[in-house]
Amino acid sequence: MNAIELLVQDHEKLKKLLEQISSTTDRAAKTRADVLAQIEAEVLSHTQIEEKIFYPAYRDASDKEGVKMYHEAVEEHRAVSELVLPDLLKTKPDSVQFSGRIKVLKELLEHHMEEEESEMFPEAKEVLKPEELVRLGQEMEAMKKTIKAEMKK
Ligand SMILES: [Fe+2]
Ligand SMILES: [Fe+2]
Repeated sequence: MNAIELLVQDHEKLKKLLEQISSTTDRAAKTRADVLAQIEAEVLSHTQIEEKIFYPAYRDASDKEGVKMYHEAVEEHRAVSELVLPDLLKTKPDSVQFSGRIKVLKELLEHHMEEEESEMFPEAKEVLKPEELVRLGQEMEAMKKTIKAEMKK
């Protein structure tokens, strides 16, 4: 898998989890907590491999427009990982508030993934060589494994 295939595969998984949690009611507190924990693990490992490996490679190969896109994407990650997600983790899964916060998280993430898939990734295919995309994919796969193993401890 090259870098883009790997990242898109992560997105697909995340989209499914977001659909799953959105379809629960406040009676399904346990399911909500379980799915949220999976979403948290996916989001944190995905944003890290992007920020440490893919984004810098993309930024360095890009023009001004790409650099702008890079900064915007990092800010969106920050909004999710440092604001919305921590809030959600502190919210009771059987509350009405939880549903509202899930909706905001879902919208933010879907918007972000859509922008990556329609703008950044096609652009990255232009500015990065195919062999570079393969190498970045391998690096990210390895890093993701390490992060997930770390999380289990
Ligand atoms: Fe991202
Ligand atoms: Fe992404």
